[in-house]
Amino acid sequence: MRTTGAVLFEAPGQWELAEIEVEAPRQNELLIEMIAAGLCHSDDHYVKADSIAPLPLAGGHEGAGVVMEVGPNTPGWEVGDHVVMSFLPACGRCRWCSSGQQNLCDMGRFLRDGCREDGSFRMSLADDSRTLAQMCGISTFSRHTLIDVAAAIKVPNDMPLTSACLAGCGVGTGWGSAVNSGDIKPGQTVIVMGTGGIGIHAVQGARHAGASHVIAVDPVPLKRELASKVGATTTFETMTEAIDHARSLTNGQGADAAVVCTGVLEQQHVREAFAAIRKAGIVVVTALGHADTEVAVNARELTLFQKRIQGSVFGESNPTRDIPAMLDLYRNGQLLLDELVTRTYSLEQINEGYADLHAGDILRGVIDYR
Ligand SMILES: NC(=O)c1ccc[n+]([C@@H]2O[C@H](COP(=O)([O-])OP(=O)(O)OC[C@H]3O[C@@H](n4cnc5c(N)ncnc54)[C@H](O)[C@@H]3O)[C@@H](O)[C@H]2O)c1
Ligand SMILES: [Zn+2]
Ligand SMILES: [Zn+2]
Repeated sequence: MRTTGAVLFEAPGQWELAEIEVEAPRQNELLIEMIAAGLCHSDDHYVKADSIAPLPLAGGHEGAGVVMEVGPNTPGWEVGDHVVMSFLPACGRCRWCSSGQQNLCDMGRFLRDGCREDGSFRMSLADDSRTLAQMCGISTFSRHTLIDVAAAIKVPNDMPLTSACLAGCGVGTGWGSAVNSGDIKPGQTVIVMGTGGIGIHAVQGARHAGASHVIAVDPVPLKRELASKVGATTTFETMTEAIDHARSLTNGQGADAAVVCTGVLEQQHVREAFAAIRKAGIVVVTALGHADTEVAVNARELTLFQKRIQGSVFGESNPTRDIPAMLDLYRNGQLLLDELVTRTYSLEQINEGYADLHAGDILRGVIDYR
């Protein structure tokens, strides 16, 4: 079928609307009519050429929609089902999936360009038939998209998808970065560095896990305001202030965990987080930076203070289990989402949405396709 989507033709560049040809679903695939897509910072890394993707790229990796067509011999799915898409597919069979680490599923090797197991693609440009890479295999910035069932999580039909779509990346990534990767325990002191669309859920997760002190650090006033609203006990503009505060709360020891969720990771961010934690504390690195960014910390401090640095993808969440669990918390009022969708946009306004993100005017922007 023919549809419209936001495509990146060159990097650095910007999103351009293009006519796209989407193939019919094959076995274990679903054709989706999009309802909502979140403007995560990770897409912007491709636009700024921090991350390198094959171009042209049909962008977007956080989204929700309705099943329009189900591939042949694909049990368990019906036209009209509502789905939240996980930016990480889970095959359910590989070593990682079968040991409770779906976020590391071997299907992750197809995420850069959406190439399927047999080397085929599902989207092309209507104008000249050029193959389109599909971001994370789901291309949520397209009115219609074709996805593998491994990336589809069925949700109740009355769930508001403009909020629920955040569960496909931002929620699990942020919440899990604190709760799973940071292993936050009741009574602990936690610093969340960068409380945008990801870090804000690390704040919620840390609070939910029972942290006594959740210190949110962000230079942007709106982010600090929202961090307080979802459970931060104190907010600061800089890590210097946050580190002082964490030490004042812990008899000089430092935070139990520091979760790094800044927009573009820099070496300095990890160093600051490393300085903020106590002996045997943990720095969780969730943010992504330029492909060449490296991290160096003082080796003596690493060894003798037994500090830990933990990378984290999708907050070590298992999409099949954790996306429904997060949405259940949302339903119960224990996870705030509606308040964090600070502005909605049409697909045509996508570059405006990212400009607002960079200006610090929004927390999570969402494309509302209706
Ligand atoms: N590891 C994963 O699985 C995963 C998944 C999704 C996104 N990400 C990455 O997480 C990062 C955050 O994404 P996002 O969508 O929340 O971005 P965002 O732009 O919404 O938020 C980033 C926040 O960091 C703040 N910030 C910038 N520099 C800072 C500093 N020095 N100290 C404190 N705060 C600072 C910004 O003001 C902003 O509020 C990005 O790098 C993104 O690519 C990782
Ligand atoms: Zn994301
Ligand atoms: Zn797997």
